[in-house]
Amino acid sequence: MSAIESVLHEGRVFPPSAEAVAGATISGMDAYRALMAEAERDYEGFWAKLAKETLSWRKPFTKVLDESNAPFYKWFEDGELNASYNCLDRHVEAGNGDRTALIFETDDGTSTNITYKDLLGRVCRFANALKRRGVKKGDRVVIYMPMSVEGVVAMQACARIGAPHSVVFGGFSSKSLNERLVDVGAVALVTADEQMRGGKALPLKNIADEALAMGGCEAVKSVFVYRRTGGSVQWDASRDLWMNEAAGKEADTCEPEWLSAEHPLFVLYTSGSTGKPKGVQHSTGGYLLWAAQTIKWTFDWKPSDVFWCTADIGWVTGHSYITYGPLALGATQVVFEGVPTYPNGGRFWSMIEKHKVSVFYTAPTAIRSLIKIAEADSKVHPKSYDLSSLRIIGTVGEPINPEAWVWYHENVGGKRCPVVDTWWQTETGGHMISPLPGATPLVPGSCTLPLPGIMAAVVDETGQDVPNGQGGILVVKRPWPAMLRTVWGDPERFKKSYFPAELGGKLYLAGDGAVRDKDTGYFTIMGRIDDVLNVSGHRLGTMEIESALVSNPIVAEAAVVGRPDETTGEAVVAFVVLKRSRPEGEEAEKLANELRAWVAKEIGPIAKPKDVRFGDNLPKTRSGKIMRRLLRSLAKGEAITQDVSTLENPAILEQLAQVR
Ligand code: WTA
Repeated sequence: MSAIESVLHEGRVFPPSAEAVAGATISGMDAYRALMAEAERDYEGFWAKLAKETLSWRKPFTKVLDESNAPFYKWFEDGELNASYNCLDRHVEAGNGDRTALIFETDDGTSTNITYKDLLGRVCRFANALKRRGVKKGDRVVIYMPMSVEGVVAMQACARIGAPHSVVFGGFSSKSLNERLVDVGAVALVTADEQMRGGKALPLKNIADEALAMGGCEAVKSVFVYRRTGGSVQWDASRDLWMNEAAGKEADTCEPEWLSAEHPLFVLYTSGSTGKPKGVQHSTGGYLLWAAQTIKWTFDWKPSDVFWCTADIGWVTGHSYITYGPLALGATQVVFEGVPTYPNGGRFWSMIEKHKVSVFYTAPTAIRSLIKIAEADSKVHPKSYDLSSLRIIGTVGEPINPEAWVWYHENVGGKRCPVVDTWWQTETGGHMISPLPGATPLVPGSCTLPLPGIMAAVVDETGQDVPNGQGGILVVKRPWPAMLRTVWGDPERFKKSYFPAELGGKLYLAGDGAVRDKDTGYFTIMGRIDDVLNVSGHRLGTMEIESALVSNPIVAEAAVVGRPDETTGEAVVAFVVLKRSRPEGEEAEKLANELRAWVAKEIGPIAKPKDVRFGDNLPKTRSGKIMRRLLRSLAKGEAITQDVSTLENPAILEQLAQVR
């Protein structure tokens, strides 16, 4: 049975314990329904109330939602605030400066606590250093950094001076970094000499140098380098500065820039169905509101919690649930430099024990790989650790199969912690569909119901609602404050991708398929409906990988599809036609490895095809269209039962079915 089928047949229900309900911010389903009804009754009033309660405004907003130029919605536009002020100063001003903001643990296991007061000082110093180099409100700063306190400092410093940041995941290649530097028009880059992951030092500055040398980003006048390992780097004195030295010379106070709620806080690139990644642009007010609000609801956050989100700041989860949401609430959180399997597969569990983590948030891929390790070695099994501090555990990024859900619930959550399976996207800014720990009865594999104020629905190709029990397209019917504002530099693409005319132009198209349960209305996500793959929770466009492959001089043509994978959710399978004759045996093996390395160099190791197959051609219709559904069957190893009568070259199927 496939993962989706097993979710659809899932009969187990886990109601919240009386204890969880009693102490919860949203306590019981009636409280949830009341909030939903409030949002239905007075949508703007509902959001205005939250925005006033959760954020501190320098100048209060007078208008909530502006729909006059839909789908370019504006929220709280005449209100003024600063994200960094909300995340730091206001807690210090309220007398909580000595509260621990970050518990930072390095790859090799040393940990340091940083208070809100310390963090504020560091952010101000770096903000001043950016200003000294001429970075000002509206300028873009690219951040290419390891998981570090400095990474959070760099993001917050940008927010403080109103310079939108664009964080590029440290695993991306120089080419990917170059494309993002160029597209966003960066004036400064913040990086590190190297990053430490799993006991290995990996270069960042060298890759950054390569990216800058590729051209198109001459506007980058300053490169700040965080000295992490002390490894050797090339230096261009006219451009490069050590981050700590530059910040060390500055004052530890810096007046925040007061910004319109609509001022762009950041741009984060994500894969879409066409070639180039999209720069998803987020606002200051609406985004920050939702990053904080969802932590209160989804994680039922309390000031006494120790929160830990294991994501990287290079992804949206690290933005909303490390850099912005927890800090906006004044939470104490763990930030981790390393990987879950180093020095062994018990790292997460030992860190939960050591730091008494109470709310833990990770990805299904991590859980699935740790299950394998734990089941093979009882020493690193979660049962060998004291995880009694945990209260709530969550997942994000991809569907979680019921088996992994149940294992996580039993072995990590001790059958007592609710599992919150949160569905959302880079574009949505924060959680959209998720259980509430003190209200929602849980069903393994289902993200259950929309959060209050989120009008999610399942529709058909024309935008009409489909009945529960029938699959369809996942949409959101009303704008919400944390939604993306546009695609950086490409408003047409924003409209076309997210508010397509075929659906009437008013529905937000998520790009996922979904089905709602007949009885409960619970949502189950069925995966992407476009050409986007989800490998270990990372979004990859098939076209992006195809263009990387065909840019190799030996490749004539390539088609990429996904195939279900036990650990990574999906795996990349590439079908390749070479300019030379089709390789076999050892030569095929060698060339496959070369192409995998090529993709890693072009995009990043996360995009490497797991399986590369060579053919004399690709299966095409007589009009020359590649038949991807056949490729998907071949990738899965299924026999071709589909109608192949329109196929120009049926013989090719046999070649492509061969796994080396
Ligand atoms: C998928 C990550 C099932 C989905 C926050 C979505 C999920 C894409 C879930 C966004 C979930 C995310 N269940 N699928 N709980 N969460 N997805 O932009 O396909 O990196 O469209 O944002 O991940 O990925 P992104």
